[in-house]
Amino acid sequence: MQWLVSVHLMSLQVSWIVEDKFVKKSFQPETLQKIEREKQKYPDKLSALLPTLWWAQAEFEYFDTETMDYIAEVLGISKIRVYEAVTFYTMFHRKPVGKYHFQVCHNIACSLLGAEHIIQYLQKKLKIELDEVSKDGLFSITRVECLGSCGTAPVLQMNDRYYENLNESKIDFLIEELIAGRIPETL
Ligand code: FES
Repeated sequence: MQWLVSVHLMSLQVSWIVEDKFVKKSFQPETLQKIEREKQKYPDKLSALLPTLWWAQAEFEYFDTETMDYIAEVLGISKIRVYEAVTFYTMFHRKPVGKYHFQVCHNIACSLLGAEHIIQYLQKKLKIELDEVSKDGLFSITRVECLGSCGTAPVLQMNDRYYENLNESKIDFLIEELIAGRIPETL
């Protein structure tokens, strides 16, 4: 009996995987309308690519090949134009990230003012490697190039928000607040 139950569960799992593989990605109807409006604004449909990628990231979280191909199809542009934009800009994710995604600048001004230490401190504190998601799904860290805020280095961007003039105690406070479900305006 136990053997029969295991076989049954296995077949359920296999069919779920098979079904999942063939579920086609699709934007919400209201997002499709926004994309259509955006396309109408420009003589070249390619101009609607960046806003579409933002909306896509909000819906699909990250860009796998299937998602990028779908976006090309929706916009009526070649797949390579989608691939090159997604892989050029670090603001677009190629794999899942944490609910709070830290992009730490490691360019010249930030490096001179301690970016490497900030990155290592974050990794140690969150117990994760770069480009890895913490077990609770809350955090991920990645390195990025200049965030355009060199005057307040070292800097990180957490989701859409900048935190500047970083040091260990500011990082401690930020993480405590995020774990408590609060997003500080500033540090
Ligand atoms: S070098 Fe870090 S923000 Fe410019």
